[in-house]
Amino acid sequence: MAQLITIINGPNLNLLGQRQPEIYGYDSLDDVAKACAEVAEPLGLRSELMQSNHEGALIDMIQTARQTSAGIIINPAAFTHTSVALLDALHTFEGPVLEVHISNVHKRESFRQSSYVSLRADGVIAGFGVQGYSLAMQRMGTLLG
Ligand code: DQA
Repeated sequence: MAQLITIINGPNLNLLGQRQPEIYGYDSLDDVAKACAEVAEPLGLRSELMQSNHEGALIDMIQTARQTSAGIIINPAAFTHTSVALLDALHTFEGPVLEVHISNVHKRESFRQSSYVSLRADGVIAGFGVQGYSLAMQRMGTLLG
């Protein structure tokens, strides 16, 4: 059975494609899910994409992934910059964790340039648009292959 990669998305990413498209583009989260599944398959991986606007729900997703998943790709959205709780949850996960940001957070407001999650992430992709998720999935193939 192919190993599962859980793709976790934080607040407001349910509006991807409609929300500030000049920053985040026009692709939806469903488009991201499809693209990741296509990349995962030939790598012997499968993917499941989740999203929540609630910090506790995201922590529950990470805790579930401890039982189900070989790796986590996470775009914590605004919680990137605020959530010690998400960092603590990710520290309980043993497999690879890759952090994705659609926009180049380093080119934006200074508060976006610090990430609690980066203290745990094995790699970070920012500014590659939604393609960053597919690139992270490719990297999972290397890390888990
Ligand atoms: C984001 C960047 C965050 O600063 C922001 O709060 C988001 C999305 C990104 O994907 O570029 O919601 O994580």
